[in-house]
Amino acid sequence: MTALTLTKFLTQIAADQPAVAASVRALAGVAVELSATIARPDSTAQLGAVRGSANADGDDQKKLDVLADEMIATALAAVDHVAAYLSEERDAAIQLHDGGDVIVASDPLDGSSNIDTNVSIGTIFSILPASGGSLQPGRNQLASGIFVYGPQTTLLVTCGDGVFAFQLGTDGQFHDMGWQVRMPAETSEFAINASNSRHWAAPVSRYIADCLAGSAGPRQRNFNMRWVGSLVADGWRIFRRGGIFLYPADARDGYDNGRLRLVYEASPMAFLVTQAGGRASDGQQDILDIVPDALHQRVPLVFGSANEVDEFVKYGS
Ligand code: AHG
Ligand code: MN
Ligand code: MN
Repeated sequence: MTALTLTKFLTQIAADQPAVAASVRALAGVAVELSATIARPDSTAQLGAVRGSANADGDDQKKLDVLADEMIATALAAVDHVAAYLSEERDAAIQLHDGGDVIVASDPLDGSSNIDTNVSIGTIFSILPASGGSLQPGRNQLASGIFVYGPQTTLLVTCGDGVFAFQLGTDGQFHDMGWQVRMPAETSEFAINASNSRHWAAPVSRYIADCLAGSAGPRQRNFNMRWVGSLVADGWRIFRRGGIFLYPADARDGYDNGRLRLVYEASPMAFLVTQAGGRASDGQQDILDIVPDALHQRVPLVFGSANEVDEFVKYGS
């Protein structure tokens, strides 16, 4: 750990980007509270329970999805800079402050299927200029980040000038981890939900088959596989040691654009990845260049070590 805390970091950011600093500070306050809530002894049974409602994307809402969303909405409502809040858990944008200069988009609780399995889950956020409206390309982002609630509670954040990693201390402060966050260009580890393999398009099947063929195959080296089922957890690992994450389109009903949502999952992750020297693509174009048609639009997502993402793109899609 270095002497830098998130509070000091945000004070530095506030000089040029006061709206970004105030928004990240509010989100960090929610993350501290969520981390404590998730760790409470009674949380598993309570928070992993399905509420009987569904979000706009048709996912069953767990109690923690809704609690996290409500905590974020309340925290952002207290920040005059925030014009609107876009959430996985809300059908439409929540208008907050007319004169606000930023829009905050969030996946309040990522990895909901893991809430009651003691596996890392998280919160994803994206901060955009209010002038661009609700549906703007990720290239416009002013900041983005992921909180991970796991063995450690951590934050990866970028405000457009590199990626910074913080860890929550017992003092309730996020402390800089002293980690120069750069995405290794090479990897021999892929992350994909292999149970969907019969539904994949041919190029995806060929790419994975070549990885599985290992040193005897065309890649001439062995590959490992990891799949957590929480984007933030697979993402954190890939930032730490490299890797390639794939959630491609597949032939299942409703998966013609994969599973992940552009505005509050793929786009903020792509900004972080790009800022760390990695690559994030839908298989054909850079995620950051895609202009959303709708708030909950899905997008095929491949991100991670730049050379491996480029290798995957060569297989076609
Ligand atoms: P969310 O819990 O916000 O809906 O996100 C879950 C996403 C993402 O975190 C993860 O990578 C992916 O869903 C896992 O999908 P499968 O369950 O189909 O493997
Ligand atoms: Mn998610
Ligand atoms: Mn979610």
